[in-house]
Amino acid sequence: MTTETAQRRASTAPLISARGVTVKFDVARTGKQMIALSNIDLDVMEGECVTVLGPSGCGKTTFMNVVAGLVKPTSGSVFIDGDEVSGPGPDRAVVFQDYALLPWRTVFDNVRFGLEMQKKLSDGDWRDRVQNAIDMVGLSGFESSYPRELSGGMQQRVGLARAFVAEPRILLMDEPLGAVDALTREVMRDEIGKLIAQTGKTVLFITHSIEEAILLGDRIVVFKSKPGEIKEIITTGIEGMGSERNAQNDERFHELREHLWSVLANEAAAASK
Ligand SMILES: Nc1ncnc2c1ncn2[C@@H]1O[C@H](COP(=O)(O)OP(=O)(O)O)[C@@H](O)[C@H]1O
Ligand SMILES: [Mg+2]
Repeated sequence: MTTETAQRRASTAPLISARGVTVKFDVARTGKQMIALSNIDLDVMEGECVTVLGPSGCGKTTFMNVVAGLVKPTSGSVFIDGDEVSGPGPDRAVVFQDYALLPWRTVFDNVRFGLEMQKKLSDGDWRDRVQNAIDMVGLSGFESSYPRELSGGMQQRVGLARAFVAEPRILLMDEPLGAVDALTREVMRDEIGKLIAQTGKTVLFITHSIEEAILLGDRIVVFKSKPGEIKEIITTGIEGMGSERNAQNDERFHELREHLWSVLANEAAAASK
């Protein structure tokens, strides 16, 4: 850890700070506004992984888009290291559920895009950085492949490499494993956990999987079904980012899983009334 990083970690100021974030969308069909997020306050400390859990339509993606600078809040603000977010920036990278790869580009060139977006291609070592990111996600040997030649899991590995390559301080992941088959999903969840731990990134990880939320998160933010409000924030208290297999014997894991099931079931019931 550099001295600078150590100093930052020692400070108690959050890296991401959401204050009163409210997002209203105009609904053309009804001519009315709908509230996607209502007065959200959330702090994320440097090096922390916060998972966001909630039923479909509760505002998870909207919240991440506000942090990413892709959606402007109707009121309230997000601050990164004290600076108000006014758009996307090199300090944040996004991993999307549907991978969002460029189909006409190879794996290498898709990962390179992560640097192009941040205008970091002029750095002399950019080829090494692209290769390192590809190696890091286990895609060595597939540099010349096209997305259509890859499985869903491998395509999302490209999405991860593209996010990691520019070395952002913050990774924003919107259900990154939502479109991946169940077995691959477990393997990649554990790999993502290791990458997060190794790189010390600050992470906002959106999921509707209770297991992912518990196993990856230092804290879990549970959203209410509607409107977009925080129901509760739970500190997992599970050390390290273990696989579910390791956690099977962990009392805290089972306790959290049961608790989250009942909270989400209540939310679902309330939403259908
Ligand atoms: N651009 C938009 N215009 C209108 N409504 C939107 C838009 N984006 C999201 N919404 C609505 O806001 C609510 C929250 O959506 P979203 O953040 O995608 O939820 P989640 O990611 O939790 O499933 C939903 O009701 C959705 O239909
Ligand atoms: Mg979503």
